[in-house]
Amino acid sequence: MTTDPIGRDDHGEPADGVSVEVRQNGPIVISGPVSVMLGNGSVLETSERVVLCRCGGSGNKPYCDGSHKHNGFRAPGVVPPRKPDRP
Ligand code: FES
Repeated sequence: MTTDPIGRDDHGEPADGVSVEVRQNGPIVISGPVSVMLGNGSVLETSERVVLCRCGGSGNKPYCDGSHKHNGFRAPGVVPPRKPDRP
């Protein structure tokens, strides 16, 4: 078995441990095993993969329901390096 630079195996799954993928203008995909816990400590779900909303528009929070594709969500990009002050 081989792994890519972020530790995924030939099938795109984490070779070991957990991986977190922040998708451009989309959700956060966590490949595990992973447990989603509520604020009171109860476990909502235990799964090998969860897709979490980061646009705030999902009707099924904390999970992504695809609303980001239609609500104009644009994640902030990388801040460009500061230009040097002019003399
Ligand atoms: S990121 Fe997909 S619904 Fe919010």
